[in-house]
Amino acid sequence: MDQLEVLLDAMTLEEKVGQLNMVASFRAVTGPGALQEVDDLIRAGHIGSLLNIWGREEVARVQRLAVDESRLGIPLLLCHDIIHGHRVIFPTPLAEACAFNPVLWQKTAQAAAQEASEEGVALTFAPMLDIARDARWGRMVEGPGEDTWLARQIGVAKTRGFQGEDLSFATSLAATAKHFGAYGAVTAGREYASADVSERTLLEIYLPPFAAAIAAGVAAIMPAFNDIAGQPMTANRYLLKDILRQRLGFEGVVISDFNAVGELLNHGVAHDLLEAAVLAFNAGVDIDMTSNAFIEGLPIAVDRGLVSLNDIDNSVRRVLRLKERLGLFKDPYRRGSSVSYNAQKGKDQRRALAREAAQRAIVLLTNKDQLLPLAPDLICLAMIGPFVDDVGAMLGSWASAGHEEQTVSFFEGVRKAAPNCHLDLVIGVDGLSQDVSGIELALAACRKAEVILLCLGETAEMSGEAASRADIGLPGAQRALAEAVFALGKPVVVVLTSGRPLAAPWLFERATAVLATWQLGSEAGHALADILFGVINPTGRLPISWPRAVGQTPIFYNQRATGRPTQIGVHYSSCYIDTLASPQFPFGHGLSYSAFSLLDFACLTPLVKHNDNVEVSVRVRNDGARPGEATLFFFIHDLVASLARPVLELKGVKKVFVGQGAEEQLSFVLAVEDLAFVGPELDLTLEAGRFEIYVGQSADPVGLLKDSFDLVL
Ligand code: NOJ
Repeated sequence: MDQLEVLLDAMTLEEKVGQLNMVASFRAVTGPGALQEVDDLIRAGHIGSLLNIWGREEVARVQRLAVDESRLGIPLLLCHDIIHGHRVIFPTPLAEACAFNPVLWQKTAQAAAQEASEEGVALTFAPMLDIARDARWGRMVEGPGEDTWLARQIGVAKTRGFQGEDLSFATSLAATAKHFGAYGAVTAGREYASADVSERTLLEIYLPPFAAAIAAGVAAIMPAFNDIAGQPMTANRYLLKDILRQRLGFEGVVISDFNAVGELLNHGVAHDLLEAAVLAFNAGVDIDMTSNAFIEGLPIAVDRGLVSLNDIDNSVRRVLRLKERLGLFKDPYRRGSSVSYNAQKGKDQRRALAREAAQRAIVLLTNKDQLLPLAPDLICLAMIGPFVDDVGAMLGSWASAGHEEQTVSFFEGVRKAAPNCHLDLVIGVDGLSQDVSGIELALAACRKAEVILLCLGETAEMSGEAASRADIGLPGAQRALAEAVFALGKPVVVVLTSGRPLAAPWLFERATAVLATWQLGSEAGHALADILFGVINPTGRLPISWPRAVGQTPIFYNQRATGRPTQIGVHYSSCYIDTLASPQFPFGHGLSYSAFSLLDFACLTPLVKHNDNVEVSVRVRNDGARPGEATLFFFIHDLVASLARPVLELKGVKKVFVGQGAEEQLSFVLAVEDLAFVGPELDLTLEAGRFEIYVGQSADPVGLLKDSFDLVL
């Protein structure tokens, strides 16, 4: 008999349920429900996994309790939110999505896994793959943005990066794709609220990123906190069993969110913890994170015949199998005992990677009069605003064990890059308050400067979990500061720090240049300076449509065709009467210091059949004054189908380096199978007919080149 079956046979029901019980260590808690007396419970075999734990000594200590002092010696699964780095912090996931670069995404996950595993962590609650189309929702910062194709690439790259070639390697972490369902669709962007999403939209928009992570071998899935049309995800048997297990073929472990089983009482679908445990478990949750519901409820539920022992065994098998895959039975201490811990070389490499990731995350939104890059011989710069020297804001949410004192602020980065330039730093106003008394001092510094760097945005706490905003503009008195600075009539570069796009049309109109820097992590200041002074030519592209006004949200480029398409100036068309329907900046937008033209776009396969490929070619010319990397987006539009199809659907992205004045010929290949959509019967359907295919440097319809092909079946 297989070793795990022998072990399973030897376990009491209480020990089995213990494997399904995850408890928070005392380092950090993200909600109510932390248990006391953790050590004794580990010894008793009542805890199978811990979260919020890292650090070689602490990890070895708790692991010894399980291995040496519990009856069966089953090692603990030690988990932590390694979202965008552990010690060295990379840009937040939304920022990193701007890189459109799977190799980079994989490398940063791998680097984070190396650091976290060196401190004993074996499982991370990442990647977060929630499609987010509504910038009010604070957790947009933790995810891939608005597009399903993009989120699929991120899901694969992150899973591979965290999990490595083999989960048993001491440097690998088990990954958790989260939050299964449609968390990003919460009503009005309000955190933890209900979502009401059709099954078609779920299957077509929200779930494919999870399917991609599953295909890449992701070890765990976390259902979302929210309900979909009344069915809390933690108790959503249909989505967790029929869809996740059967349709998507997931065989790994399902881990509830923090206290989510207990919160079924608040949802009003369970009377007590026992009923909550039964609902969640029978729906398909294997591990209860911190509710205490499984450990208390499941033995009683088995006794009363509400839960089958066979199902318990299957869940325990999945958990033990994961521990086995992680190599924990062979060597429970393999993570946390590596000699390479904190070796300077590895650290330097990770910082270099963090700098590259941050450079690639920065999006040049506007650049009037080609103000950027700044000349290296500037004599006097003023750095103004609440984020000039705010390292906490650079780290952003879920910054694990990242240290503020090891984070390079914007000020520090610019000072190092321009040592001979006189630099004045004045905060002017803080990030949040209405106090305008510091503005005069800021203006005095600005008057002396040749160029003003105005660092505005959101504090770290204004995005992330439980940080929804009804107003997505610049908070506090920052607008007053900005208006006063603009009124001086000097060149102003606005450096925007935020976890979401900020709706501020007035700012984009008046600033000379604007850089979206999101939350760039440990190397923020260096990366900003690299872009400002042109050491690096910007390559970041928006993974979201940037709204003009909060009233446009949810906003996304791949909207379905309507009966009355948007036409500016046409009254009975899909428009607003008080603002444009188009975003401030389209999905994919991002300027470069080069200028690219796309030429001679042609579809080389005018007629395609099943199993064929669609092939297009295009020429990219760099008309700018310096070499640079162009980003090309390939979209399709299914012209006539049995259902209204999106006006544009992203099918691929290519990046190409083009020398100054040079040209590159590019081709792009799309499998006919990728033209399928979730049809009238909710299955993947290919329909014959004409498709348009486009290439552009963003989803802005104005810049797209078009050709077409016919699919014959
Ligand atoms: C709650 C969050 O929703 C989830 O993303 C996170 O992994 C858990 N807390 C654990 O910290």
